[in-house]
Amino acid sequence: MKRVIIAGASSGIGRELACLYARAGNRTGITGRRIELLEELKTEFPLNILVKQHDITSENGIQKLDELVSELGGLDIIIISSGWGKQNPGLTPEIEKLTNDTNVRGYSDTAVWAYKYFAGQKSGHIACISSIAGIRGIDVCPSYSASKAYQINHLEALRRKAKKEKKNIIVTTIIPGFVDTVMAQGDFIFWKSPVEKAAKQIYNALEKRRKIVYITKRWRLIAWLLKILPGFLQERV
Ligand SMILES: NC(=O)c1ccc[n+]([C@@H]2O[C@H](COP(=O)([O-])OP(=O)(O)OC[C@H]3O[C@@H](n4cnc5c(N)ncnc54)[C@H](OP(=O)(O)O)[C@@H]3O)[C@@H](O)[C@H]2O)c1
Repeated sequence: MKRVIIAGASSGIGRELACLYARAGNRTGITGRRIELLEELKTEFPLNILVKQHDITSENGIQKLDELVSELGGLDIIIISSGWGKQNPGLTPEIEKLTNDTNVRGYSDTAVWAYKYFAGQKSGHIACISSIAGIRGIDVCPSYSASKAYQINHLEALRRKAKKEKKNIIVTTIIPGFVDTVMAQGDFIFWKSPVEKAAKQIYNALEKRRKIVYITKRWRLIAWLLKILPGFLQERV
């Protein structure tokens, strides 16, 4: 039995992951702003799920996580699925700000809090759902793609830090392509994975303590192509 926090479990990938962890008998703390959705999920697994309303961008976000850890009786793994993004071709400042507040500041506060907690107990597992959008800058969603690149680099830095400090902290970077949730909207969507399939692949990768995982597996090839694509070709896509 593990003690798990899934940040951003009120819908989408986080919700599916919460079902998998709770069904497997783990003590599963779920967070998000939409408390009614979290409470609804708890009714399916009343013995294994604990609910905490938590806005990852708020000043007292860390305090809420501390409270949840106390209620869980400790923490073995945190999965950060909280995220926000929207196409923003008009560069609306509010969209840029909300994206950065959620995916950069909120993510970073949470990941750093988790690293310090796990460093104190000398073991633990941090995972975050970044995105294939973080591999290169995307013209229609500048902040979203940049924020996901931030997560990929920040997680790599934490992984290296743990190794250097000889801490038994696993850091998993999850890089999905398109997954069938409210977030996967737009014209250029393909290979959209059912959310149940994506969550199951993430769950299996976390059980294997993988460092980097593409969801679904074929997105590894797209990531590789994106990385080697020269800038002048990238600008034509
Ligand atoms: N779907 C895709 O194709 C896809 C592809 C690549 C990466 N991703 C990433 O996967 C993650 C999960 O997204 P999803 O597709 O499952 O979409 P989703 O259904 O919209 O889930 C997003 C989750 O994040 C939470 N969240 C958003 N803002 C928050 C805040 N300020 N504080 C706390 N929680 C917040 C939401 O909860 P509340 O609204 O209740 O707060 C919700 O539970 C995101 O990081 C997304 O960028 C998705």
